[in-house]
Amino acid sequence: MQEREKFGSRLGFILVSAGCAVGLGNVWKFPYMCGQYGGAAFILIYLVFLAILGFPIMVCEFSVGRGSQKSCATSFKVLEPKGTKWHNFGYFGMAGNYLLMMFYTMVAGWMLYYCYRCLTGEFTGSLLSTAEVETKFGEMIGSPATLTLWMIIAVLISFGICSLGVQKGVEKITKVMMLLLLALIVVLAVHSVLLPGAGEGVKFYLVPDFKGMVEKGIGNVIFGAMSQAFFTLSIGIGSMAIFGSYLDKSRSLTGETLSITILDTFVALMAGLIIIPACFSFGIEPGAGPSLIFITLPNIFNQMSGGRIWGTLFFLFLSFAALSTVIAVFENIISFAIDLWGWERKKAVMFNIVAIILLSMPCILGFNVLSGIQPLGPGTGIMDLEDFLVSSNLLPLGSLVYLTFCTTRYGWGWKNFIKEANSGNGMGFPQKMRWYMTFILPLIVVVIYLKGYYDMFFKLGMKYFIPWIIVAIAFLFLIGWFAFGGKNKEVNE
Ligand code: ALA
Repeated sequence: MQEREKFGSRLGFILVSAGCAVGLGNVWKFPYMCGQYGGAAFILIYLVFLAILGFPIMVCEFSVGRGSQKSCATSFKVLEPKGTKWHNFGYFGMAGNYLLMMFYTMVAGWMLYYCYRCLTGEFTGSLLSTAEVETKFGEMIGSPATLTLWMIIAVLISFGICSLGVQKGVEKITKVMMLLLLALIVVLAVHSVLLPGAGEGVKFYLVPDFKGMVEKGIGNVIFGAMSQAFFTLSIGIGSMAIFGSYLDKSRSLTGETLSITILDTFVALMAGLIIIPACFSFGIEPGAGPSLIFITLPNIFNQMSGGRIWGTLFFLFLSFAALSTVIAVFENIISFAIDLWGWERKKAVMFNIVAIILLSMPCILGFNVLSGIQPLGPGTGIMDLEDFLVSSNLLPLGSLVYLTFCTTRYGWGWKNFIKEANSGNGMGFPQKMRWYMTFILPLIVVVIYLKGYYDMFFKLGMKYFIPWIIVAIAFLFLIGWFAFGGKNKEVNE
């Protein structure tokens, strides 16, 4: 068995973990959700969820990773009391990472393609009408060949970097990418808020409109904010835990988690500050939904002076955000094969290049050849299904597993968790949170999880509601089995 690689520096760990967190969730989903769900009112709820849910769960993930020195494929097996079923969660976590990449690689490809399109002046050569910009987006998603080509480019770049190893590839390149991303974000945000008429957008973004939020359905907004908090931090499927396993014991985990959460939130807030004032400045609705950055924004760059360069820089920023997550999750996927079967890194990379390209195809075809498949109701597609399964199921429920594993005596137990979280210098984990994390936090997750299903499917009628509520309950049973199945012969305090 090869020796486990380590990060070269503390900054490397923080930027790679932040790179895993910072992604499409921050730069694509967050701004459009803000636009749809009432701006600042949504942001407030989202920030509360980050603090009360995301933050403690991320400390749990890092602790399990560092304590076991393994990826989620085998970490529970190393730490669990003998005779329990926690180790089966490894497969759940692995499935979560693959499923996330099944649509993420395609959208990362969109970002690269739009960067190329802006650079070659496709949106700014001559003044295009809104309909023409929309047609360009439609042409892209209607073409399996274009989508496949750019998805493959994203996959090859990311696996290429991972093949160089943790320090020489993932750490070195993600560090540069994240620093460039942070520089770009500041330049773009300053430019955006200085556009004429941008003040109204800043107001929409910073002053809560609770009335607008109630109109959207408060349940939908809360469910959306909770899913987004899990998604943006990539917690619940071991994507973060892996970076704990590459970390030495010199720093305590709470302070590091805080830095990563703050960086992630900063990027999301700044992405909104780039996009929303620009929409107001050009009299364009920010509530367009997922197409916001692919239709609304190219329209803006089309009209803006220097739009070609601003558009290219903007999509470069989005590409860095997307690729930093793809690289991090690929690193995780590679480590599954290394941890489970002792494969060489190169072999794991080659196998997974083929696997990920094939697994990304259903999502691509869902926009064209298979557009008749609408699993979540009229107008939805395969990507919506994959996103829903990951964001609204695997991430929150996986988080529940990490949480219960670290708090109950039938898992790793509170004492082991605190010992690991607090090893090293830096902020200690607040011990007073034990009761909250053992009883209240799991309850919040389960209630919002079930309420989310209800709000989403009840209005679509029994044809959708009954099968989906069965899926929801089956997922809960599965999680219960990981935690309470088996005859545990040991307990941890
Ligand atoms: N955390 C990743 C993102 O926000 C998945 O895109």
